[in-house]
Amino acid sequence: MFDNLEWISPDPILSLSEKFIEDRNPRKVDLGIGLYKNSNGITPIMESVKIAEKYLVSQAEDKVYKGSVGLDGYCNKIISLLYKDAPEIIAEERVTAAQTVGGTGAVRLAAELIKSYSPRRIVWICDPTWENHRGIFSHLGVNIRSYPYLNEKGEFSFDCMIESISKIPFEDILVLHGCGHNPTGYDLTNNQWMHLLEIVKEKRIFPIIDMAYHGLADNLNKDSYGVNLFSEQLDEMFVAYSCSKNFGLYRDRVGALVILGKNKDHCSKIKLHASNLARVNYSSPPIHGASIVNEVLSSNELYQIWAAELERMTTRVKGARKMLVRESSEQGCSEIFLGAARGEGLFSTILLNLNEIRRLKEVYNIYMLEIGRINISGINKNNIEYVVSAIKQVAGTR
Ligand code: LMR
Repeated sequence: MFDNLEWISPDPILSLSEKFIEDRNPRKVDLGIGLYKNSNGITPIMESVKIAEKYLVSQAEDKVYKGSVGLDGYCNKIISLLYKDAPEIIAEERVTAAQTVGGTGAVRLAAELIKSYSPRRIVWICDPTWENHRGIFSHLGVNIRSYPYLNEKGEFSFDCMIESISKIPFEDILVLHGCGHNPTGYDLTNNQWMHLLEIVKEKRIFPIIDMAYHGLADNLNKDSYGVNLFSEQLDEMFVAYSCSKNFGLYRDRVGALVILGKNKDHCSKIKLHASNLARVNYSSPPIHGASIVNEVLSSNELYQIWAAELERMTTRVKGARKMLVRESSEQGCSEIFLGAARGEGLFSTILLNLNEIRRLKEVYNIYMLEIGRINISGINKNNIEYVVSAIKQVAGTR
């Protein structure tokens, strides 16, 4: 049956991560996959998560099935965290959530709902965006097009973005990044969110906001500004939420599709359809990681520990960004790292071409995505000089 299969390229992010793990050279540096790394280059288990996990394991008495949309308690806690500054949305009972298999699973469930119930609408994704957005929607056969995020010089351009979005057909679907734009790190200002909202309202666009980095761009409140504003003023939208980064639960696959509707009945109905789609796909999501998040967000003490840990992580990423800007200026190659000075969150794109990025990996054992994205938290005091000088050297051979 599969005799005629062709060889295809593996996933660019996951396969790069595998190559990095296989690399035996001790000087190797991982600036590839989106994992938070501390100043020793480690992706640690958070203390709050360890405490909650230990407690849960000691209390567990069964492993029976949960439903297709996972743990209600977890879903409610994610909603409260996301809408801390917009409590009226919760009070009006026009938001619900389905637990999903990570943030990717939330985007996938959103895509399945669109494919099943509104297949003719076009989904507009950002150019550039997280590489899997294109894959998820196009694999399902949903029509996708892209809107630009950058100008010809590779700088963020709200004008280019808005000009393109204002031309998209009425009632199409728009995928946005809530914070910590992946891959550029350029986020919208509050005024830009407001401006965008006007167009979204006028064109009756349905937004899907990908919220994979809540708390890791600036802080929990500021990072949810766009989601809160849109949710307050629109009748319908989705938020694809991930706990991979802000709880460090990557492989436990903890996410949620947050569903905004006109009223309680409306969102319950959408959730029921989401539940049936989950059932035919994977039956039900894994519960372990979601129970941990539920535990952390249910205990005031654990919440305080978690919030402080998250703040320290974000401060460290900001510090690494500053370190990169300073070092590149000292080594006289700031122009390659222009994006790093302005961006927020884990990512930045740097100005290297494909050959240079490949040379960086092959000659210097420094791994970054071929689209030019680096994970800022992969930089630390021990490798900063090496990373910047290697990048300067590959760029210098142009
Ligand atoms: C990334 O962008 O590197 C992360 O979100 C990991 C992934 O699943 O791609």
